[in-house]
Amino acid sequence: MPVRRPLGSTRSYDPLSQLVFSRSLGEYVWDDQGHKYLDLICGYSACNLGHAHPRITAAISQQISDLTWAHSGESLERQKLEETLGGLWDQQLDSNFNIKSTSKVWLTVSGARAIEIAWKLTHAKSPGAVIRFDLAYHGRSLASAHLSDTQRSAAIDPFGAHQEVRIIPFPQHHRGSCSPLLDDGSSKCESELCHECQRCLEQAARVFDQGPLKASTLFLEPAIGARGYYFAPAGFFRKLVSIAKERQLAVVCDEIQMGLRRTGPMFLSVAQGWKPDLLVIGKSLGGGIAPIAAVVGDPLWIDAIGPGIESETFAGYPLACRIANETLGILHEPNLESEIERKGEFFRNLLRRGLPGNSRVDGIGLANCISLENFTNAGSAAASRIVERLADEGVLVHLTGPNRNRIALIPSLLIPETSLVFAAEKITDAFKASGD
Ligand SMILES: Cc1ncc(COP(=O)(O)O)c(C=O)c1O
Repeated sequence: MPVRRPLGSTRSYDPLSQLVFSRSLGEYVWDDQGHKYLDLICGYSACNLGHAHPRITAAISQQISDLTWAHSGESLERQKLEETLGGLWDQQLDSNFNIKSTSKVWLTVSGARAIEIAWKLTHAKSPGAVIRFDLAYHGRSLASAHLSDTQRSAAIDPFGAHQEVRIIPFPQHHRGSCSPLLDDGSSKCESELCHECQRCLEQAARVFDQGPLKASTLFLEPAIGARGYYFAPAGFFRKLVSIAKERQLAVVCDEIQMGLRRTGPMFLSVAQGWKPDLLVIGKSLGGGIAPIAAVVGDPLWIDAIGPGIESETFAGYPLACRIANETLGILHEPNLESEIERKGEFFRNLLRRGLPGNSRVDGIGLANCISLENFTNAGSAAASRIVERLADEGVLVHLTGPNRNRIALIPSLLIPETSLVFAAEKITDAFKASGD
């Protein structure tokens, strides 16, 4: 580890933390020794379009000679991004729920900051207790760490308990009575919710009603990203949101990792059939290159705080906005959504055919996970061994989950099928070699 690297910023628990990277292109990265890897981590979905997409690199060159900085953040690129993102969200609300709106777009520099802004907005309009999933991850800034699984976020609150944060369970089907995703990709829970989903909904209602402080905001991810790639059926989310709405809670949907086509649709919440009050996106909005995130929603929420209360030096600066505009353009290419869904199914089927029966492959679109929870000693040692072996074989996969016994597979959305076949073969071989 470099001598000047602070201990708290290291990832020594990550079996890939020894790798030092020097180059990247498309779905590949190279380390400083010249080894080439197929990247199935993609910056935890920050590099949804792979690395150095030619349209994005061309746009950057152009923008650098046009304009990189704008006084008070005002630029044509920023206006275009606000118009595109807000318009896109409005169009989704109109076509899916017949809701007419003129959404506003709050630009910021990171997912954690976007979550904080959403929190400030709902707090300004409706103060009270905030609710999150037990498996939540919404960032590691001082405030957003309170909304994340604190075991690892190590939240430090210098102000004392400035706001009450309550926790509700996310369904854990591997231990429960029903499978969220059957082998054909369908879900038993779509027609009728299983016991585990019901248990979580009942517990959520109890937590919402807990006193004395009134519950004000529900923060949720439509699939768990950073804490382990856990999926639950759309019906679970629709019911959870309707229980929250009956109690007038504001609903903030964090699609920082799962939005912008990671699972196929542009926005997973809408695809699941429910509408958040505030949508938060980030990561791949910046094409894997620029740190940019956004909160999108009705002026009713977005205008809850007045001028000058929230600002950042680099929020919505022209270069990042240009990259985001180009990224959204690529994400709109025809057939991309169906291609992502088709490739995801194809990949999971290859894996299901090759992997041992005690492993479990889940996923939506190109957000995929193999769980080893049913392996000897809950699979943590085997998962770590498999991740290391795959790196030796030229494939990078992400060790995740509260017990680090899940392997997330997060390829570029533009990955060719041949690379998925290569990855599935390597993963199957690594499971065989692990001997569990
Ligand atoms: C779902 C989710 N929310 C929030 C964040 C925080 O984003 P950032 O690291 O840009 O602050 C992340 C990052 O992994 C995330 O996955």
